[in-house]
Amino acid sequence: MRKQIVAGNWKMNKTFSEAETLITEIADALDDVDLKDAEVILCPPAIYLEMATDVAFESNFKVGAQNIYPEDSGAFTGEISPLMLKELNVTYCIIGHSERRKYFHETNEFLQRKVDALLKHHIRPIFCCGEVLPEREANQHFEVVKKQVQESLFHLSMESFLDVVIAYEPVWAIGTGVTATKEQAQEMHAYIRGLIAEKYDGSTAVETTILYGGSCNGKNARELFAQPDVDGGLIGGASLKPDEFLQIATSF
Ligand code: 13P
Repeated sequence: MRKQIVAGNWKMNKTFSEAETLITEIADALDDVDLKDAEVILCPPAIYLEMATDVAFESNFKVGAQNIYPEDSGAFTGEISPLMLKELNVTYCIIGHSERRKYFHETNEFLQRKVDALLKHHIRPIFCCGEVLPEREANQHFEVVKKQVQESLFHLSMESFLDVVIAYEPVWAIGTGVTATKEQAQEMHAYIRGLIAEKYDGSTAVETTILYGGSCNGKNARELFAQPDVDGGLIGGASLKPDEFLQIATSF
């Protein structure tokens, strides 16, 4: 059965010493909770990944990066490769976040290359998709998400696809305090699962973890995660608060 996941996307937050404190606090707290079968992933800024994987080695969480460049090495000043992450024991990487699509102009085609580059090194992509508000208001949200998923992921073989985690993050819900309702989340997650069943097969669709992201917090996580097609969350702001993050991680 598919994995339930709560992943914390720290974005560009925390100094080194603050990051160290936060990672340690979360690691300590994780020792005292029952996650059932859920997996916790921390995705700090890249320069803290080594510190995070050192702590993770003796704790109950996995480490994810927030981005990669889709080459193993070369003249790409400022970029980080999946090969580098592999040696650090980073096992996940967020890609296609709406902030990267918006500020760094990442396209579905470019994200396809990132997916391939990660899977080559057995790092699991957490592939973000989601519509902006005008697209939802124009009732185009299903088409938008379909195009994102099709153009970046559906070139994969069934076997490779099974290593992908999808995160539905409606852009209007990110950092706004306006969460998608449980019905809106469930409707889109079921739609995405249907696309996977159509492209691959029913069992691939059933095995795919689909996370919800966008103003998910300690108060609303339980009702969102209770939806049949919502397998956990990709958490931004609330992942920087250890108590609340732990509350979310135990909301299954
Ligand atoms: P917030 O939880 O702060 O809305 O951010 C969600 C997000 O972008 C996670 O990737």
